[in-house]
Amino acid sequence: MASNISDQQFTKSFIIFVVLGVVLTLFLVFLGNLNAGTITDRVRGERNEMAQSVSGSNSLQPVGQISVGQQPESASQTTQVAAATPTIDGASVYQSACMACHAAGVAGAPKMGNADVWSDRIAQGTETLYSRAIGGFQGKSGMMPPKGGNMALSDDEVKAAVDHMIAQSQ
Ligand code: HEC
Repeated sequence: MASNISDQQFTKSFIIFVVLGVVLTLFLVFLGNLNAGTITDRVRGERNEMAQSVSGSNSLQPVGQISVGQQPESASQTTQVAAATPTIDGASVYQSACMACHAAGVAGAPKMGNADVWSDRIAQGTETLYSRAIGGFQGKSGMMPPKGGNMALSDDEVKAAVDHMIAQSQ
């Protein structure tokens, strides 16, 4: 009888012990997962920060970011450039890059609006004037710097300015 009771007590405490063990294990597994998740998040956050600190160069992207959008983006940029070409305003290019010399005839520059100085030059042909304006030209009266010294101008912008100067000087 006495051994029966102690058997029952042993079984009871054994079950409690096992149940507690299982609960404790589950709890630890849960804690571990929680912690692992936090660390992963933190590492990801740091990577994103690093990627952002060099942003602009676009050399580093946050993990898993795929730039699917770039194709249509550059395509639309090309369209914009193509569309912008016909709308170049020769007069404003002239004002920003050529006027400094060609308005007053500084340093031997043919003065815009003076048909006498321009007639011989225009007689050379528009292509010659274009290429001299774009590539620069050392003539008898002075030195025409390439693109008027403004290398940021596109060839088409310089041509538009030449067209403007010719139109104003005939
Ligand atoms: C730093 C002064 C200066 C600037 C700025 C300048 N030019 Fe000139 N340009 C000259 C001079 C000087 C000549 C004359 C060279 C010669 O015939 O001896 C000249 C000549 C020219 C000619 C005539 C070339 C020829 O074959 O007779 C054209 C066209 C011309 N410039 C266009 C431009 C355009 C377009 C710009 C602006 C994008 C510009 N220039 C800006 C100084 C300048």
